[in-house]
Amino acid sequence: MGTGVCRCGKGVEQRDKFEKLDEIIESYKGKEGALIPVLHEVQQLFGYLPEEVQERVAAGLGLPLSEVYGVTTFYSLFTSEPRGKHRISICLGTACYVKGAAAIVEKLEEELGVKVGGTTKDEKFTLEVTRCLGACGLAPVMMIGDHVYGKVTPDKIKEILEKYD
Ligand code: FES
Repeated sequence: MGTGVCRCGKGVEQRDKFEKLDEIIESYKGKEGALIPVLHEVQQLFGYLPEEVQERVAAGLGLPLSEVYGVTTFYSLFTSEPRGKHRISICLGTACYVKGAAAIVEKLEEELGVKVGGTTKDEKFTLEVTRCLGACGLAPVMMIGDHVYGKVTPDKIKEILEKYD
């Protein structure tokens, strides 16, 4: 690991995060079922779970790296890629799909310049798709952070995105 500074960040701030990471690992060490809560806290700390961090968690908890990778890839809660400040989720459940969700996705990809799963270069938005959000009456539905937008049309996208900084 060398300097303890990973490619996900910069200098001193990152060193502080790695110290905090070690504290989190330490506080869970030896406890059963520690992996998921540790990963959860660590993701809150870094915003995502870079490879170096997953390696450190595995070593710290004395687990095989494959077990850590297994958990982070299985649970959609975890991500090994940086995420934007605002997460956009488009519902691709049946009702939303029928009402034109695919055209919304297309418009967002065009406006943001990223594909689904991607994060804009300025790290402002991450574009994701999701299953039914349970608001089918409002189809097609899109969420940005905790805010639900219903009956979205492609021509509303630009205006909606402009609200976020
Ligand atoms: S299908 Fe989109 S909210 Fe249910």
